[in-house]
Amino acid sequence: MKVAVVGATGLVGREMLRVLAEENFPVTELFPVASARSVGNQVEFAGKSWTVISMDDAISRKPDVALFSAGGSVSQEHAPRFAEVGTVVIDNSSAWRMDPAVPLVVPEVNMDAIQGHKIIANPNCSTIQLVMALAPLHTRFRIRRLVISTYQSVTGTGKDALQQMMDERAGIEGKKVYPDVIDMNVLPHCDVFLDNDYTREEMKMVHETRKILSSPDMAITATAVRVPVMGGHSEAVNIEFEEEFDLDEVRKLLNAMPGVTIQDDPANLSYPTPRNAHGHNDVFVGRLRRDHSQPRTLNMFIVSDNLRKGAATNAVQIAQHLVAARMIPA
Ligand SMILES: NC(=O)c1ccc[n+]([C@@H]2O[C@H](COP(=O)([O-])OP(=O)(O)OC[C@H]3O[C@@H](n4cnc5c(N)ncnc54)[C@H](OP(=O)(O)O)[C@@H]3O)[C@@H](O)[C@H]2O)c1
Repeated sequence: MKVAVVGATGLVGREMLRVLAEENFPVTELFPVASARSVGNQVEFAGKSWTVISMDDAISRKPDVALFSAGGSVSQEHAPRFAEVGTVVIDNSSAWRMDPAVPLVVPEVNMDAIQGHKIIANPNCSTIQLVMALAPLHTRFRIRRLVISTYQSVTGTGKDALQQMMDERAGIEGKKVYPDVIDMNVLPHCDVFLDNDYTREEMKMVHETRKILSSPDMAITATAVRVPVMGGHSEAVNIEFEEEFDLDEVRKLLNAMPGVTIQDDPANLSYPTPRNAHGHNDVFVGRLRRDHSQPRTLNMFIVSDNLRKGAATNAVQIAQHLVAARMIPA
């Protein structure tokens, strides 16, 4: 299969190459694409070096599938060009997520939505891990309201952000991605501020969760916070259900959800952390407890490697489903 990875030199793109190799995805030809700065450079895939090519070059080779992670404007401009030559595009940016004609997919939750589409959107990293834990509970107890507080890794902002943190740690003056120091600090600010005083990251969680769970009226409020962490995103989530729930049943439902691992043994100090989630494909859930301040309400802590299930793993899983559904040739 001819596979293009657009943004192949970035944090998500490199993780995609690792996940494609780990999953033995049937790649016969790989077309790594990046900006003009990187054309001619090499990336590693499956024990070989591959030369980075330009967007036009990749389109002219008509790949079967293109995994995009090069930012919204790049996807907006170039994803339709790939679709025109018959390529199925799986896009990691926010460019197409809220387009009503484009499915927004987490395979364990709403895989059926992919049928017949040439552009498929991967949700925001914070949203993917959230809906993985929420979907089975929503089906059973119906969620009325969510209050989300995130603790997001610098890897969620890309390679330059990671470099800023490492430079600050080493005492080097370098390029600034964040408006303030990130190392040894916490910034209640992910993505840009909107007119309603929420950030775009916060509103992505609201709109994308509603779309994936087909619940346009679900009450959701979020505060997204950047923390000097590398391994993954964490989320403290307060969930008010329509119906009364039983904690044992909550555990059973989460246990039965593919891709979710419960790590919840306070007596033995066992709970999810981004350090432990790093490099894993699963979403880890812990600190499960009733909110003692109001009825039908649950608290939980959700952690996942944002570059894995939050981006690369989810995209590769969609590609695997496309192969299984014969939407791209095996
Ligand atoms: N990081 C995450 O956790 C995460 C999760 C979900 C979704 N995403 C989304 O994935 C995308 C990439 O994120 P990232 O963290 O991997 O960023 P990154 O580390 O900054 O990498 C950006 C990639 O895009 C390439 N690129 C930039 N401009 C381009 C252009 N005009 N044409 C072709 N390629 C271009 C870069 O190439 P050069 O190396 O040549 O500059 C690089 O390969 C973003 O849309 C982001 O919102 C990220």
